[in-house]
Amino acid sequence: MTATTSAPAALRPHAEEAFAEELDALAAADDRPRPERWRLSPWAVATYLLGGTLPDGTVISPKYVGPRRIVEVAVATLATDRALLLLGVPGTAKTWVSEHLAAAVSGDSTLLVQGTAGTAEEAVRYGWNYARLLAEGPSRGALVPSPVMRAMSGGAVARVEELTRIPADVQDSLITILSEKTLPIPELGEEVQAVRGFNLIATANDRDRGVNELSSALRRRFNTVVLPLPGTPEEEVDIVARRVEQIGRSLDLPGVPDGADEIRRVVTVFRELRDGVTLDGRTRVKSPSGTLSTAEAISVVTGGLALAAHFGDGVLRAGDVAAGVLGAVVRDPAADRVVWQEYLEAVVREREGWKDFYRACREAGA
Ligand SMILES: Nc1ncnc2c1ncn2[C@@H]1O[C@H](COP(=O)(O)OP(=O)(O)OP(=O)(O)O)[C@@H](O)[C@H]1O
Ligand SMILES: [Mg+2]
Repeated sequence: MTATTSAPAALRPHAEEAFAEELDALAAADDRPRPERWRLSPWAVATYLLGGTLPDGTVISPKYVGPRRIVEVAVATLATDRALLLLGVPGTAKTWVSEHLAAAVSGDSTLLVQGTAGTAEEAVRYGWNYARLLAEGPSRGALVPSPVMRAMSGGAVARVEELTRIPADVQDSLITILSEKTLPIPELGEEVQAVRGFNLIATANDRDRGVNELSSALRRRFNTVVLPLPGTPEEEVDIVARRVEQIGRSLDLPGVPDGADEIRRVVTVFRELRDGVTLDGRTRVKSPSGTLSTAEAISVVTGGLALAAHFGDGVLRAGDVAAGVLGAVVRDPAADRVVWQEYLEAVVREREGWKDFYRACREAGA
């Protein structure tokens, strides 16, 4: 621990701060051509996301664990004039990948619009500082640019989270931006033209049906990349272990080497309930209403680690994760509880080496 005299450490630093050393090392080792205003070449951006070892021995940690091609397509898209849409079920790292892409390409992941049902056009285009507007009339000084407008004039990557939650008419204000690469300001008789380096990454959840569909006019402006759920249990265990380790370190929780067993069990339970069948393919089980995503497995294990650290002996055990698993599975108190009880008795109880887990789950549910 180093003593700091400056501002207290942020609870969650932005990607470009948290991984500044890796980004610097990549920039130094990177001799490939960079698109205008990119901090790194597309190759180096992909290496930043997927991990690797540089010629000087610097190890770049993998941020995204999954098919290499997905990352390559995403990065290549950003180097074109088409925007990037990351689509997928909840917890497939859409937000995470979008933040790291913006950090690696532009060195800034903060040009962000959070999409909600209440997102107004000002959040996507520009607003006004009303005190100045009244005092001076419309002027550049009274204009409050949106993150998208700032990205356009600075040649950086802007991010729009949860695009499909944004009302359709507000979504449509992105069409001109993406096709004409310009943002007119009729009040001033001016426009802001995007400079090279500008692009946009949007994320959308394909479970949130019925919110607002993406208009086909807007969809055509995007290259869509679907982020899949982890292909194998091993891959998912690996993702959970890595992220729990990182999060645990930032919270001063103990490491997880002995907890690997519990991670495997949480991932197994989540996958079996999600897929509706046991990993060996032998027993059908019912699926509960929750999503049971990798992201939820990460929070269950992190919560378990905190329990183990503060109220146990520091070793992650079944009892530390049971309550979290129950909480994630039983979202609807009536229907999900029945599903869980059936799974517990038919699958968990019979599984070799899972006695402690079965007992802990029974106790947590009592
Ligand atoms: N394939 C993966 N590789 C690395 N990390 C992953 C992967 N899948 C999930 N994660 C982790 O899961 C966590 C949640 O991811 P994130 O919030 O980006 O999901 P999301 O797809 O945006 O979900 P939502 O639809 O709920 O917004 C992150 O901590 C991320 O590191
Ligand atoms: Mg997200």
